[in-house]
Amino acid sequence: MQRIAVMTSGGDSPGMNAAIRAVVRYALHHGIEVMGIQRGFFGLVNDDLIALGPREVGGKIQEGGTFLRSARLPEFKQTEVQQRALEVLARRRIGGLVVIGGDGSLAGATALHQQGFPVVGIPASIDNDIVGTDATIGMDTALNTILEAVDRLRDTASSHGRIFIVEAMGRHCGYLALMAGYTGGAEVIHIPELPLELEEILATVEQAWIREKAHVIVMVAEGAAHSFSEIAAYIEEKHKGFECRVTQLGHVQRGGRPTHFDRLLASRLGVKAVECLRAGQTGTMVGLQGTQLVAVPLADVVGHNKQAPAEEYQIIRILAQ
Ligand code: F6P
Repeated sequence: MQRIAVMTSGGDSPGMNAAIRAVVRYALHHGIEVMGIQRGFFGLVNDDLIALGPREVGGKIQEGGTFLRSARLPEFKQTEVQQRALEVLARRRIGGLVVIGGDGSLAGATALHQQGFPVVGIPASIDNDIVGTDATIGMDTALNTILEAVDRLRDTASSHGRIFIVEAMGRHCGYLALMAGYTGGAEVIHIPELPLELEEILATVEQAWIREKAHVIVMVAEGAAHSFSEIAAYIEEKHKGFECRVTQLGHVQRGGRPTHFDRLLASRLGVKAVECLRAGQTGTMVGLQGTQLVAVPLADVVGHNKQAPAEEYQIIRILAQ
């Protein structure tokens, strides 16, 4: 394997640049050339590649986003589009591919693997919704971004005795809302994995008020049954006198300088991915399980979205009283 390629795909996440850097520097250390594919599978299909030497990844470990840029390409499900990608890889004499991204990107990687091309996936998404790994690149940075916002909101919520309903990202997974709610001291956490009725949410808010809490934070995952605005309207309608304010954090959760944790995870997974390509351990996704770096079959990962650890909610409720 004299030449490999690396891409970032799907929703970007802080730490992707650190992963690219590790792939490039570690491959070059072993005499393997690296091509960077720009804009994910879209760039691959359109032969939008650049050579990556040690200097191209200099000053990148601390930068958020991805300098290779990213894109979503739903058409990659089509065999003829996959064939065009394989033709580009063959023409460029690329012997292996590293795909850095979330569930959709890993599905694209699996398609190339099924066509017989050596691929290794690196899980990168703020959602932490990928099975086979305890953490995904970007999760920790996003959690700290949410936490910074919640801490700020607690200040003003206490000043005015208000109820703040905060929406976190996560697509269909409630991990960001659950864990940021846990460490942000939220009194209520509403996530897809924990169906709560509006009446229950109101009852919990009223109990907090009876306990004379200075404020109430309701953390809502974007994929939960009831939206943050619906909850705010319901509380104010059913309990006159309660004053609600809402904050939809949105894409601010996708930006920022990666934390130490994400830089370390990204670097280790980048190295592991190159080791897998060199060892022929392909059709896999590298990940972290406990303290161990692992390589798991893509077939065991794709299509199995991970659920948030909803069992922790009881303890979270007790600690937030
Ligand atoms: O998968 C990461 C993520 O940020 C999700 O949490 C969110 O629902 C989605 O991407 C937003 O997609 P886009 O960046 O295309 O708006």
